[in-house]
Amino acid sequence: MAEQLYGEAGLNRLDWNSHRGQALQGSVQVPGDKSVSHRALMLSAIADGDSRIRGFLEGEDTRATAAVLAQLGVRIAAPSSGERVVKGVGLHGLQASSQPLDCGNAGTGMRLLAGLLAGQAFDSVLVGDDSLSKRPMRRVTVPLALMGAQIDTRDGLPPLRVRGGQPLHGIRYELPVASAQVKSALLLAGLYSMGDTEIVEPHPTRDYTERMLAAFGWPIQFTPGHARLSGGHVLRATDIEVPADFSSAAFFLVAASIVPGSELRLPAVGLNPRRTGLLHALRLMGADITIERPRESGGEPVADLLVRHAPLHGIELPEALVPDMIDEFPVLFVAAAVASGQTLVRGAAELRVKESDRIATMAAGLRTLGVHIEERPDGAIIHGTHLQGGTVESHLDHRIAMSFAVAGLVASGPLRINGCQHVATSFPGFMELANACGFALEPVG
Ligand code: S3P
Repeated sequence: MAEQLYGEAGLNRLDWNSHRGQALQGSVQVPGDKSVSHRALMLSAIADGDSRIRGFLEGEDTRATAAVLAQLGVRIAAPSSGERVVKGVGLHGLQASSQPLDCGNAGTGMRLLAGLLAGQAFDSVLVGDDSLSKRPMRRVTVPLALMGAQIDTRDGLPPLRVRGGQPLHGIRYELPVASAQVKSALLLAGLYSMGDTEIVEPHPTRDYTERMLAAFGWPIQFTPGHARLSGGHVLRATDIEVPADFSSAAFFLVAASIVPGSELRLPAVGLNPRRTGLLHALRLMGADITIERPRESGGEPVADLLVRHAPLHGIELPEALVPDMIDEFPVLFVAAAVASGQTLVRGAAELRVKESDRIATMAAGLRTLGVHIEERPDGAIIHGTHLQGGTVESHLDHRIAMSFAVAGLVASGPLRINGCQHVATSFPGFMELANACGFALEPVG
């Protein structure tokens, strides 16, 4: 079974034990933002001139995107860790690859590249690992087809065969689900389209593509929930400063909140308002988090976060926060599982089509640890308790693995997490960084 689950993923299987730690102390510099790193590579690649990216996430996902762009003829240098210099080939300078383009575990990589490649003169094939191969792609291929693109799927799943040479035209598209990946794919195709591409979202989602297009000099109008651009301009190379990833900081925000005596500082975390839903949710639960030295870096709001232990209580999570914390639910479930009282999550059906079905995966793991959790199609009711130890499965999902590492800090016995190798997709070095501030994580075997 283990062979089957993990064998094709290309990474060696890795399991962890997470033990009760000490009070968490010190300063934790989390790595660069995954969303921003993907976009920085893609826009730099099709810009005119050289762009320098600093704070680049050295994760498997973003490296996969760099490798795909290299296969398409883009020269990308890595002068130091966290730094890339991309020699832009211009809007029409990408070259066909005779080999499939491997996006690894990255939904963002595959969906955004689908939009970008739809506008090229050549055919491409996008493939991914076992987990990515199960993720829905019609959400991008259907609207891209409305723009004139031709993309074949395997019944709505990867691989994607993108036919080049199709003339694209802009559309006005109302997204049926709030998804920054879909919005971004359509905007990237819009660069290659005749006329206007206009996107309307049911709830505003992260606007990195819009901000970055503007930074590269492409005319674009955008307000929360709406974006509009037209084809026929150029991208001018620029330097990009990637903020620390709020989604990576999230594990430490919850960890320090739930371990008595903790006090952690997280420097220079990106606080784009479309990402900080967990901050609001934790504060509603009673968390003690201070925003220090708010400032701007690379056009994004950043600040240092100071988090101190505080007793948490359950809440009815406001549905309006859901899109702004869509990647943070696994760790919110851990916070809810140890909070007093119950927490109600609704309106989060998208969790079922992430790197794993995050409602089912978290519910199964938390039940193993003694939590009473009622699963709903679009959320859950989580009854807070004291966690016991046990063995849980990550289901090839990096955020599930790290969330259970946090749970292990307060479980009464050792917590074994199977399948932690995917943590490197978004957070290389997590174990070392976590242990340096008081976690007690160790590889098994
Ligand atoms: C992302 C958008 C979100 C998020 C993902 C990154 C992005 O996905 O979950 O981790 O970079 O645009 P959806 O667009 O599917 O909501």
